[in-house]
Amino acid sequence: MALRTLESLGSLAGTAVVVRCDLNVPLKDGVITDDGRIRASLTTLNALLEQGARVTVISHLGRPDGKPEAKYSLRPVADRLSELLGRPVRFADGAPADTSPDLADGEVLLLENLRFDPRETSKDAGEREEFARELARFGTAFVSDGFGVVHRKHTSVYELAQALPSAAGSLVASELEVLDRLTESPAKPYTVVLGGSKVSDKLGVIDHLLPRVDSLLIGGGMLFTFLAAQGHPVGKSLLEQDQLDTVREYLRRAEELGVNLVLPTDVEVAERFAADAAHETVRIDRIEQTGFGADGIGLDIGPETAAEFADIVASSKTVFWNGPMGVFEFPEFAAGTRTVAEALTRVDGLSVVGGGDSAAAVRALGFEDAQFGHISTGGGASLEFLEGKTLPGLEVLGWQA
Ligand code: 3PG
Repeated sequence: MALRTLESLGSLAGTAVVVRCDLNVPLKDGVITDDGRIRASLTTLNALLEQGARVTVISHLGRPDGKPEAKYSLRPVADRLSELLGRPVRFADGAPADTSPDLADGEVLLLENLRFDPRETSKDAGEREEFARELARFGTAFVSDGFGVVHRKHTSVYELAQALPSAAGSLVASELEVLDRLTESPAKPYTVVLGGSKVSDKLGVIDHLLPRVDSLLIGGGMLFTFLAAQGHPVGKSLLEQDQLDTVREYLRRAEELGVNLVLPTDVEVAERFAADAAHETVRIDRIEQTGFGADGIGLDIGPETAAEFADIVASSKTVFWNGPMGVFEFPEFAAGTRTVAEALTRVDGLSVVGGGDSAAAVRALGFEDAQFGHISTGGGASLEFLEGKTLPGLEVLGWQA
């Protein structure tokens, strides 16, 4: 069955509509450091407002413990959303049940962080249904546009979509269209670049994509578990001891399937985890002799590796990238991530940056969204989609893989 899109709700002029966005943006001292997710929500919100709908926006921010916590308030997001929409956004800091659903003409309402109520993420379906009824007071239709949370069976993603006539917003629809191309009919050569700290976060995606890709490039903190699996010393680098057997199995399967699984030939080794740490490039084939003293810590892929990854990426027709290649927040260790990102901008085909850290990384390094084919707003959601999982927030909107 196909995803129910906005059009399926008919004309929404004069209708009160609840829109679930993923406005879970990074904040530092109360200041938004990357407003990409707020910008990504504008297309649907503007389309609804232009139709004359009355809009209440709902979202979570971070992972509060089911009770109000000032640092997780959506208030800064209300201000930024108002600037970007060019209209007033009323912020309701009380519980939804105590908030009036009435809106003035042209006004948008943003409710406080849904996760301040434990029923948003409750395991108990009855509790979630009860909270959904409280949220349903704010509209007679529901638009699900928070792609970043469609993998969560939470009230505002799942039960609310059942409580009201519901459809996907244009962000969810467009994310799905692109990610579906990565699993169904990727133009070849198809390259997947994985980084980030933990291999355990990427097991499902490696499993599912290994038979589909031509090249799989491994960088980021997770590369050290691969190096350790091959018997190399990795000093104090990130290492998931309990994944060594799994990683050996991937290396074996890649060979069997004829997949080009590429591990770094050099890494940047620092004497400690710090932006100003002394560091040197160490070749993997010399790592036993020169490498990690007992205290060395790998913080980026080396220049030879970055160049090789860039060559493979730039000559591919389809590329999916998830996870930074190194600790890009430290300028001295951002080169690997920058080189791979730059290669992605040269892909003659479809290049997709998979959400979360990778999206923040490319923006922090000064790249523009438009330089890539697609920047997903979903970290976990895009990975779970690529794992071939059924995502509750899509299933409830009629989607079947
Ligand atoms: C994300 O940042 O990936 C989404 O906003 C989902 O957040 P969560 O992992 O806390 O559910």
